[in-house]
Amino acid sequence: MEQINWLEDAVRQLPKGAFLMVKGNPMTIGWAQFGVLWGKLCATVYVRHSRYTHTLLEDCESFTISVPSAGTMQKELGYCGTHSGRDGSKCEALHLALVPAAFGAQDGLDGCRYHIECRILHRSELDEKAIADPALQSRYYPAGDPHTMYIGEIVGVTEANV
Ligand SMILES: Cc1cc2nc3c(=O)[nH]c(=O)nc-3n(C[C@H](O)[C@H](O)[C@H](O)COP(=O)(O)O)c2cc1C
Repeated sequence: MEQINWLEDAVRQLPKGAFLMVKGNPMTIGWAQFGVLWGKLCATVYVRHSRYTHTLLEDCESFTISVPSAGTMQKELGYCGTHSGRDGSKCEALHLALVPAAFGAQDGLDGCRYHIECRILHRSELDEKAIADPALQSRYYPAGDPHTMYIGEIVGVTEANV
């Protein structure tokens, strides 16, 4: 894989938001991990059952995480974290273009700095009853709507000059 120093930037940006890209639908995410599993560099993302992205992932073998530069795309992060692709194209509403995938995963979101392309290796339900801290359980799952975890092998990362 080409040497791009994306990891620290991505981890620092995530709490402020990145875009999970599936079939051209950008969904704002704040959670993801990067690391090594089964000898492969992987990214894990968490998607609640209620999201349109969850429906899209039922029939999809890959995802891409598009990471904005610090302090940019705040309007887009807000919109894509509060509107559902079920109700219409977010890219059309925001006049945003897609960046064609370079490694065969999903197209990224134009305007972002990094596009982390992932091939799904594993999907499973996050069992909220297994969370050791009951405060986290009640904070994040008061009404159910569990997360599905998707572990993807990072097949390539591209960097844009933004
Ligand atoms: C900062 C931020 C982070 C978010 N992180 C996640 C996340 O990691 N997983 C998730 O399922 N939803 C997350 N959401 C909520 C979704 O982005 C939101 O429900 C979105 O409208 C779903 O879009 P969709 O229906 O097109 O998939 C986040 C929202 C914001 C504002």
